[in-house]
Amino acid sequence: MSTMNLVLHVWRQKGPKDKGGFVRYEAKDISEHMSFLELLDVVNEGLIAKGDDPIAFDHDCREGICGACSLMINGQAHGPQAATTTCQLHMRKFKNGDEITIEPWRADAFPVIRDLVVDRSAFDRIIQAGGFITARAGSPRDANEILVPKTDADRAMDAAQCIGCGACVAACPNASASLFTAAKIGHLGLMPQGQPERLQRAKKMVSQMDAEGFGHCTNHGECERACPKQIGIEFIARMNRDFYKATISLRDEKSGGGDG
Ligand code: SF4
Ligand code: FES
Repeated sequence: MSTMNLVLHVWRQKGPKDKGGFVRYEAKDISEHMSFLELLDVVNEGLIAKGDDPIAFDHDCREGICGACSLMINGQAHGPQAATTTCQLHMRKFKNGDEITIEPWRADAFPVIRDLVVDRSAFDRIIQAGGFITARAGSPRDANEILVPKTDADRAMDAAQCIGCGACVAACPNASASLFTAAKIGHLGLMPQGQPERLQRAKKMVSQMDAEGFGHCTNHGECERACPKQIGIEFIARMNRDFYKATISLRDEKSGGGDG
């Protein structure tokens, strides 16, 4: 088993109002089989043994499914490996002697709580604004009772892969939450059950995204590259179309026009 010695530059910040700054740590004898979060566990064990404050970072499942882990590693959201969350990134992606910079997601709508942990509750509020259907689900129906074309089901599943990690926001030069919001609007908007509230949903969720202070999408495409679930920016185009239709129908309602 090969091991490596690394130099880490980690963002430390005591609280939301603290200025924060980078602190240098040496990590010795790190196994190539460790995950990136296990590297931080090892560093934290050393800090705790010395009586220092451990580095705060978010994590939960460590299996790439919950979306809690969220580190900017050498300027890349979730680090250098495509389609991979921080918790699934392994140290074999790095080499002996590397210097690694570790930062929290940077976006006004994701304020730093402590060190590498940011407040992503803005995402919860976007979902609360309309990321659901209001019909009573009742008891389970037979799977083939509501017919869904296979292509729609597949695309809905693609969008439903979003784990709400926020890497798309962190990677975007505008700190836009468009990919996240579009994924949530997309998976419901592709299913028959999502149709009755489809336009209203787009209007409410996009409005909430704006109210939270996320920027607008200007087609950089960085979000798609950073997304560990490879959600495509075509979902943003779909969201924009739904939002546009919602705006037009609202205008028609106000003026008493429209095609009824
Ligand atoms: S769209 Fe991708 S990067 Fe953005 S929150 Fe969802 S999984 Fe994370
Ligand atoms: S800790 Fe759950 S996705 Fe990384």
